Amino acid sequence: MAERKKLYEGKAKILYATEDPAVLVTYFKDDATAFNAQKRGTIVNKGRINNAVSTHLFQLLEAQGIATHWIDSPQGQADGREMWVKPVTIVPLEVVVRNLAAGSLCRQTGIALGTPLTPPLVEFYYKNDDLGDPLLTCDRIRAMDIASDDTVTQLQQMAQRINQVLINFFNGCGITLVDFKLEFGTLADGTLVLADEISPDTCRLWNQNETDESRRVMDKDRFRQDLGDVESGYQQVLDRILAHTS
Ligand SMILES: Nc1ncnc2c1ncn2[C@@H]1O[C@H](COP(=O)(O)OP(=O)(O)OP(=O)(O)O)[C@@H](O)[C@H]1O
Ligand SMILES: [Mg+2]
Repeated sequence: MAERKKLYEGKAKILYATEDPAVLVTYFKDDATAFNAQKRGTIVNKGRINNAVSTHLFQLLEAQGIATHWIDSPQGQADGREMWVKPVTIVPLEVVVRNLAAGSLCRQTGIALGTPLTPPLVEFYYKNDDLGDPLLTCDRIRAMDIASDDTVTQLQQMAQRINQVLINFFNGCGITLVDFKLEFGTLADGTLVLADEISPDTCRLWNQNETDESRRVMDKDRFRQDLGDVESGYQQVLDRILAHTS
């Protein structure tokens, strides 16, 4: 691809326009942030690993009939850090699905870490760093005019379907999908599709072969909680996905 215009640089990725208006490039960086960017660092190889993990999961979901923004992840280019995606208008909601209690749910409710949540929780947070990505209610979403009631229902249904596909897949990899964050967007024709990324940055993933609370963590909690071996946690997620897929 020829000349690219940088459209946006976020904490984890850079978004470029291409000469084709139907294609954007996302470049996955090694930069890591946590706690609304109060903690910053680098996870060596994270960009390459997260692109590969996201690529596998988007392909898996597409094969299950779930529409995503994914077009291609060209190999041998930019060290495997580039994903080509359809441009969307991002719905400013972070859709969080929780199968086991962890993180802010435990802090805010007192529910013990690891408590199974049946049925899984689907939560909405306002995608707004200045406000600290606050938890929303359906009434607040309506009052803020962020999305119609129909769209909210569609987001809940898509999130639940995605959760079922991902739970089963990760189980096959010997990994428990504790929780994860999704972003959705609308294509030019208004179709709602899954966008952004699904990676160890955006999921909590526990190694089913480990019972120890700190050793089982394979995701960004290793970085958040200074558990060490962050890169190898991420790499092991990818290795297991590749082994399970081949
Ligand atoms: N297909 C897409 N079209 C347009 N924007 C997208 C698409 N997929 C993801 N994005 C947006 O691109 C950006 C990716 O950058 P990154 O993940 O680094 O952002 P961030 O630092 O997490 O911050 P924020 O999400 O608050 O902007 C995000 O803003 C995301 O919402
Ligand atoms: Mg992001």
